[in-house]
Amino acid sequence: MSISYGNKIILAPMVRVGTLPMRLLALEFGADLVYSPEIVDKRIIASERRVNKATGIIEYIDEKNSINFRTHPSEKCRLIFQIGTSDPELALQAALKVKEDVSGIDVNCGCPKKFSIQGGMGAALLTDPDKLKAILTNLVENCGLPVTCKIRMLETAEETIKLCKMIESTGIKALAIHCRTKNERPSDKGHWEIFKPIVENVKSIPVIANGDIFDRSDIQKVKELSAVSSIMIARGAQSNVSIFCNEGLLPKREIAIMYIKKAINIHNNYANTKYTLMQIYADSVKDNEYHALVRAKSYEDLCEIYSLQSYLKEHKLR
Ligand code: FNR
Repeated sequence: MSISYGNKIILAPMVRVGTLPMRLLALEFGADLVYSPEIVDKRIIASERRVNKATGIIEYIDEKNSINFRTHPSEKCRLIFQIGTSDPELALQAALKVKEDVSGIDVNCGCPKKFSIQGGMGAALLTDPDKLKAILTNLVENCGLPVTCKIRMLETAEETIKLCKMIESTGIKALAIHCRTKNERPSDKGHWEIFKPIVENVKSIPVIANGDIFDRSDIQKVKELSAVSSIMIARGAQSNVSIFCNEGLLPKREIAIMYIKKAINIHNNYANTKYTLMQIYADSVKDNEYHALVRAKSYEDLCEIYSLQSYLKEHKLR
């Protein structure tokens, strides 16, 4: 069944934070689609796919025993796999590698980190439209899954629209725009006003708005400003994943407990679980729970903070 990108609320790709437990929680709270963290093409190509028969969890593991991607069949119909790439052939190989476990392929064209830019990936593709076009066209024509891409805005609306129209012409199914330029930091205010001219010019595919959506009223505000089709949320979901539910935010402690239980159930790597919990509290570093988290060294320590010791005993971790 082909996935639809229109009128959706979406968990954004987030390295380390958007791993399996966070994606499953986002879906339970009502996210329509979830993106994997960016995974570089060569890493996934070099991985071997293994299925854990007991849990059903699918792992892509490389020869150093690093797990590069974990997923569960329950998320497949709403999961988009994001590739970091600068090469049309490697992008295709990466997409084909994970094809049976995901419903769409996204190309990261927004990451401003040195590692990405130096490799010609992420935001470097914004200034290399021929390469970007070749990557998207190869994926659209040959990967057999819907293809999307996520960009940042350029310095002017005109340049951004020109790029968006080129991207639209490749046959991709949706375009996500993070409303900051490559040099702007997360603390700089996003430019919601960029969405309207993009929506007016990109008419054949849904435009997904991303940037500074921190509560449900922001979704309404962005839609009123721009008639954008879909919404993608990163930090708002990182700090409280119940943002996907329309009934008000749950207290952080409750979110942390749900996250830990989910992480235990799916045998999430402890270091990733602790890291994500710290990000959940990143806007509450004075909180006692945050200080206890900093000191935690094991699942036992985490469970003690939230009185989950008996839960941990009942659900064995490997
Ligand atoms: C990100 N972002 C990001 N973007 C992307 O395309 N691929 C990725 O893997 C990541 N990783 C990532 C990790 C973390 C921890 C954060 C906070 C962000 C960027 C993200 O998807 C989004 O574009 C920006 O954060 C802007 O959206 P918000 O945070 O204003 O909703």
